[in-house]
This record gives sequence, structure tokens and C-alpha cells, in this order.
Amino acid sequence: MRKKITVIGAGNVGATCAHRLADKALGDVVLVDVIEGVPQGKALDLLQSGPVEGYDVQVTGANDYESTANSDLIIVTAGFARKPGMSRDDLVLKNFGVVKETTEQAVKYSPNAMIMVVTNPLDAMCHVAYEVSGFPKQRVFGMAGILDTARFRTFIAQELKVSVESTFACVLGGHGDTMVPVPRYSTVAGIPLTELLDQATIDRLVQRTRDGGAEIVRYLKTGSAYYAPSAAAVEMADSIFNDRKKILPCAAYLEGEYGIRNLFVGVPVKLGAKGVEQIMEIKLTEAESAALKKSAASVQELVDIIHRQQAGGTTA
Ligand code: 2OP
Repeated sequence: MRKKITVIGAGNVGATCAHRLADKALGDVVLVDVIEGVPQGKALDLLQSGPVEGYDVQVTGANDYESTANSDLIIVTAGFARKPGMSRDDLVLKNFGVVKETTEQAVKYSPNAMIMVVTNPLDAMCHVAYEVSGFPKQRVFGMAGILDTARFRTFIAQELKVSVESTFACVLGGHGDTMVPVPRYSTVAGIPLTELLDQATIDRLVQRTRDGGAEIVRYLKTGSAYYAPSAAAVEMADSIFNDRKKILPCAAYLEGEYGIRNLFVGVPVKLGAKGVEQIMEIKLTEAESAALKKSAASVQELVDIIHRQQAGGTTA
């Protein structure tokens, strides 16, 4: 029996996710959006690509959640994208409401699903989905680390003029300005970056990785990246549905790992049929660990803003 995937949000990220999921025939896709006609139209268009691309998966669109019932995976992409000059964090309260409402609806119909959050600010929105769903931590996670490492890998490959396939990158922390690319654990054919490039070059690539999303927002002006984010989300879906147990950087709920407690932060995890099956703890230097703690603190600040909002208090 085919898997069933609900993609919430039929904007650029959601629709491109649906496109990639269908292309890989990972499961039947239900595309949900509040805008009447848009999910239905995009879904029908994708369905009609099937004969050409050679997939038989069903792709349907809906404005409500009834047809999403018994999904195996819910991918939350709904929300506002940032505009030039905005940080991902500026979206926190706007997207809190969207993620809360959509998660509530989706889990009512799919109580056994996994939830993959893509909406920004990513780590804080994972927290919202986790609290609203009441799901175990293994079944709630966020897509961001694969995107950040893909950007880092792209820049490394371009700098060294090697195939992207020979690169591996490690990025930890929140998917925000404080993310922590770790050059020591980023390699080309197993050789650490620190042995291949001088510090100034590494610093430049690290900074470009941190600014990777903003660089694209500056070009697009009215939205943010979606090709690489959707590719990353679909790699996670593939690892889960095919129980590949890939070690992938994802936002996962930490309960003491890396000295961080009760918070979603990007770390390498083993992603398989049960969701987040293991959190991989890698040894960090004092400086790397301090940078990770700083990044976690900035995620915590956003979670605190959300909790104050829920309590009806001030958000300042
Ligand atoms: C990015 O980094 C949208 O957060 C996403 O491009």
C-alpha cells in the first residue's frame, strides 16, 4: 500500500515539495491550502504530469483536511515567507498562528502521522507543532539542516572545483543567523575542510552559508527559496519511507543532548521508519559548543515569545 503525504501550503515550497514527492513516487500527495482552487489546480496539473514522468501516485488538492485522513507524513510549509531585510525570526508570531491551526486540523485526521515542519522560524515552529500535536518527539522534526549543509556543500564544491557528491558538510544549531557550520567536520572525500582551505576562505564560505537564505530573498524580493528547501524535505521523506536510516541534520527535540534541554535545534539524527530514531552526539570543541549554545539560546527566545503570546501576555 502506498504511503500518504499531506503537504500543507500550496505556495512555492509546498507545491515544489508535492512535485518532487510525486516525481520520486514516494506516496499519494494531498496538497492543502486555504486559497480556493489553488491546491486543486496545482494538484491536477501534477497528476497530469504522471503519464509523462511515469508515476501513478495520486495527487489531490483540498481546502480542508478531510481528504488528508490517515496520512503517514504531514509536511507543514504554510506561513508567510520573509521579505528583503527581514530575518526568519521576524515571522515568529505571524507563523505561530498558522502552524498551530494547521497542525491542529491535520493531526485530528492523522493521529499516527509524522510531522515535518518547514515553516520559519523553523526550530520554534517545530516546538509549536510538537506541543499542539502532543506527538512523541520521534515523530516531530524540522527540515533545515539539509538545506544549510547543501548550501555549504555547494560553496565548498565551487571553491575547490570538485563534485558536490564528494562533499560533506556539518551545520548545527537553529536555522537562523546563529547557525553553526562546523568546518572541522565538513569534508571533501573525507579530508576536513580545515586541511584544504585557509581560514579566511572558510570564514567566507561559512558566512555565505549563514546568509544563504537571505541571499536568495534579496534576489527574489517577494519570497524565499524553494527549490533547495523542497529537495531537502523530500530527502527526509525518502529516508523515512524507505527506512534508509540516513544520518541527516534535522531540527530535533533535545532532552539533554549537547547540554540542551526541551528545545528543537538542528543536530545530526538517524532518520528512518520510526522518524528520529537516534540523535547523534558529536564531540565539539569549547568554541563550537559555545556557538551551539548561543544558537540554542536564540531559539529559546522565540519559544519564550510564543509561550508569552499563548499566556496572553506581552510579546516584548
Ligand atoms: C531558507 O533558508 C526559506 O529558510 C529558508 O531559504
